[in-house]
Amino acid sequence: MAAQPYTSDDLNYNDNNSRTTKEQNEKTVRPEIGSEKISLNGYDTIFIGFPIWWGEEPRIMDTFVESYDFSEKTMIPFCTSGSSDIGASGDNLKANAGSGNWLKGERLSLSSDIEGWINGLELFN
Ligand SMILES: Cc1cc2nc3c(=O)[nH]c(=O)nc-3n(C[C@H](O)[C@H](O)[C@H](O)COP(=O)(O)O)c2cc1C
Repeated sequence: MAAQPYTSDDLNYNDNNSRTTKEQNEKTVRPEIGSEKISLNGYDTIFIGFPIWWGEEPRIMDTFVESYDFSEKTMIPFCTSGSSDIGASGDNLKANAGSGNWLKGERLSLSSDIEGWINGLELFN
């Protein structure tokens, strides 16, 4: 959760001056995370999901991946969106994380075959 929670005004993408519009326009912004840091001990495969904002991962996801060491872990990005594909977001997260074995990301929607997607993942090579 964000240290400063997102209000509905913050999330207004019709407003060029809304918080999220400004954050997404600036790739280096790193909104602070407010929740406790979590322990990744014992996890070797991590699904990392997020909504698409302005075609990309929310900047707070960059804060998140920069806060952890994903060495030896398989990272699987997935997104939801109105219609946009995952685009460069998985690669952005991988680059910003700087560690971990990142698989290709996927956009999931209500009509996605999620079980088929999971079963088709190259987790064990
Ligand atoms: C600030 C903001 C920007 C968004 N930008 C996009 C976008 O560029 N493309 C898109 O398909 N959806 C966009 N969305 C829609 C979200 O991705 C979508 O609301 C989210 O994945 C959750 O899905 P749901 O609303 O169906 O629960 C945006 C939403 C917000 C709040």
